[in-house]
Amino acid sequence: MKTDEHLVEYHNPKELTDLLSLSLPEKGEGLESAFSCIEQTLAYSVRTGHPYFFNQLFNSVDPAALVGEWVTSAMNASIYTFETAPVFTLMEMLIVKESHRLFGLPLDGDGIFTPGSSIGILMAVIMARNIQFPQTRIEGMRAAPPLVIFVSEDSHYAFTKAAIGTGLGLNACRKVKVDKFGRMSVEALEIAIAEAREKGEVPLMIGATCGTTVYGAIDPLDEIADVAAKHKIWYHVDAAFAGSFCVSDKLRPRLKGIERADSLNWNLHKALGIPLQSSLLLCREAGVLQRSNSTAAAYLFHSNDETAYDVGQKTIQCGRHVDCLKVYLSWKSNGRLGLAESLEGSVAFVQEFYQACLADPAFLLVTDPPESFNCCFYVIPTQLQGVKEEDRDPAFFQALGKATIALREAIRRDGTLFMNYQPQRGSEPFFRLTMHNFLLKSEHVHEIIGIIKAKVAELYPAQV
Ligand SMILES: Cc1ncc(COP(=O)(O)O)c(C=O)c1O
Repeated sequence: MKTDEHLVEYHNPKELTDLLSLSLPEKGEGLESAFSCIEQTLAYSVRTGHPYFFNQLFNSVDPAALVGEWVTSAMNASIYTFETAPVFTLMEMLIVKESHRLFGLPLDGDGIFTPGSSIGILMAVIMARNIQFPQTRIEGMRAAPPLVIFVSEDSHYAFTKAAIGTGLGLNACRKVKVDKFGRMSVEALEIAIAEAREKGEVPLMIGATCGTTVYGAIDPLDEIADVAAKHKIWYHVDAAFAGSFCVSDKLRPRLKGIERADSLNWNLHKALGIPLQSSLLLCREAGVLQRSNSTAAAYLFHSNDETAYDVGQKTIQCGRHVDCLKVYLSWKSNGRLGLAESLEGSVAFVQEFYQACLADPAFLLVTDPPESFNCCFYVIPTQLQGVKEEDRDPAFFQALGKATIALREAIRRDGTLFMNYQPQRGSEPFFRLTMHNFLLKSEHVHEIIGIIKAKVAELYPAQV
């Protein structure tokens, strides 16, 4: 897809409702009606594979993986028993094992594909609870002491949801302070653990993040592993985003400490271009998922010489979408080295983009420098570009926050670039571009900056 093609033909919800005239008829309209419906869907949807779709942490799609997704749907299998999904079961087991190898986890460890990392994190909390407090599997939270989990204040909300979902409760998810780079402070973690213990609470899990959603920051994984080992707390790593560094010999050293995790979740559908959803939950110890989740439903799981291959015993799901074929085909066609090369290219691109912003007075950087795939910044309206650093007061940042929203909305509706924004820890909203589309090349850096600056000039014309 070329960069001068629009990402979306924008219409507001009312206009789009009128344009689409969606309806579900009583009497069938035949398969022919599908063609116009597909045309309409393609015409008005957002093209997330466009190189300038920076809005979310997923974007481009690897063609081999796409073929895998199509074939998967055509075969309509469910991966729970070996008898219904023999090939997929072996494929999934191989991917789990090879992923353990990449992360440096024991090769006989446990693992399974989950429908996204939020579910992976939920399953990790359930597992940490069921394995450490086995009675909770039978009697629920009645049998548990007051359990708490520790994550950074920049961690994904999936942990909070898992605390709600498991019955630990929202307040049991303790948010530990981060440093200026957005990485969990180990000192603050130690203090939070001590405070919880003083109150009679029992630490259930430390959840480190490897690639935070906004900054793309990597927590000090090795130091956090030390804390977890010292206090004997389950150590989970949310590697949804930068976990993909594991495929690259060059980038993998940045994950040092991840090999000590009791469990981790990793989204291959973020930085690796596998279609949504493709997400692994990996565990250090063999058998922990089954011990946590199996209820041995007799109508489905039969005791025979294939039982060890009935992977459905490991999950909280019943019917389960096959996510392994698209990963297998992508890995097979690109090779680990091909995936690594693309990923290293993305990381280099982010650094190039960051350097270009640094040199441009219209940009004020927030992540300095980016650690993985995200670059965060304010865009300074024309009239404010001369304000000196020491004069940048709250009113200045309020103006920048307003400009973020105005510029973003105008550019999104033009359909030229999709980028997201957010406030963070009380700041005014700033831009976050997440840039790991394999189609991005050096020449795009200035084009992207050009699109943003052209909109600044349009919305904030220089006064004469
Ligand atoms: C760091 C991090 N963890 C977890 C998640 C949740 O992943 P999923 O969308 O697959 O549920 C996200 C989503 O963006 C994320 O950024």
